[in-house]
Amino acid sequence: MLQKLEELKKEFRESVEGLTDKNSLAKFKSDYLGKKGKLNDILKGMRSATTDVKKSVGAAANEFKQEIQESLVKQLAKIEIDEINSQLKKSWQDVTLTDDVQVKGLQASGYHPVTLIQREIEDIFISMGFDILDGPHIEDDFHNFEALNIPATHPARDMQDTFWFTDMAHLLRTHTSCIQVRGMEAHEPPFKFVGPGKVFRCEATDASHEMAFHQLEGMMVGKDISVANLIYFMKTLLSEIFRKDVNVRLRPGFFPFVEPGFELDIECLICGGTGCKVCKQSGWVELLPCGMVHPNVLRAGGIDPEQWNGFAFGLGLDRLVMMRYHIDDIRHLHSGDLRFVEQFKAY
Ligand code: DAH
Repeated sequence: MLQKLEELKKEFRESVEGLTDKNSLAKFKSDYLGKKGKLNDILKGMRSATTDVKKSVGAAANEFKQEIQESLVKQLAKIEIDEINSQLKKSWQDVTLTDDVQVKGLQASGYHPVTLIQREIEDIFISMGFDILDGPHIEDDFHNFEALNIPATHPARDMQDTFWFTDMAHLLRTHTSCIQVRGMEAHEPPFKFVGPGKVFRCEATDASHEMAFHQLEGMMVGKDISVANLIYFMKTLLSEIFRKDVNVRLRPGFFPFVEPGFELDIECLICGGTGCKVCKQSGWVELLPCGMVHPNVLRAGGIDPEQWNGFAFGLGLDRLVMMRYHIDDIRHLHSGDLRFVEQFKAY
């Protein structure tokens, strides 16, 4: 009997790995372990065997049973993995294909208008010698506030309603100005860079406010930078974006991280200055807060304000998109409605 068992074991081991589907695996199991299966067939002679034989054959048979069960479980896992892999292979899609390629019946959509405008502005700044920097959405108190001359007790913290994490030390960045701080930490002056990205504010939404929106921060640090440099770059930017002269006005504006600070407004391109819901009937839209970098900010970024100075600005990308494409409600931008996105194919 022992010898028959050994032969059966050999036969089992040789054939189990050839099983490639669940049905044949189930049949295989009953062939070996079923009531009328191969194992029981061998053990039929046990009744008349001596106690010693019963003991040794019984032990060997149990061991073999266990081996069969373990091997079948392993083989089943292998079959399942193969099934998943072959299914994945069949439904494979190249997500990098562009919209001029017909992807297996998928309808290609357009670029989101914020992406389009962001790329366009990046190109404009690259052509003027700026670097493009990135930063994390989850920031700490230091990069979002402290280093930007907004200490814990500063009333300016109330200017922006913040999504805090429960540790009260981390937050969803309320502006891209944090990229200024990260840029200063990583670079030796002179430098100039822009940092686009998503920002978050805990506030009620309406036609011109969203909880998540997009900004593009800019910073230039060098020797003897002046407001004239700032105005030059801002004017160049706006005439490139709108491909025409737009009416702008500069007002004093307060931001703790710049001194002096300004608000650069453009005449509303939706109503042409006569008043609508986007410009809140004023005819002007706040587009470009900016100013000369505060010495405390340079210091926090490890730069000596006696040696270097610079300007900074924060551009609201969503508003720019709205002006550019005449969209009168910012909430369309995050609606996820494909009929909306499909209108912006060109880049
Ligand atoms: N971080 C400001 C905000 O989100 C925008 C801003 C204002 C950025 C002035 C600047 C600046 O760089 O100089 O409201």
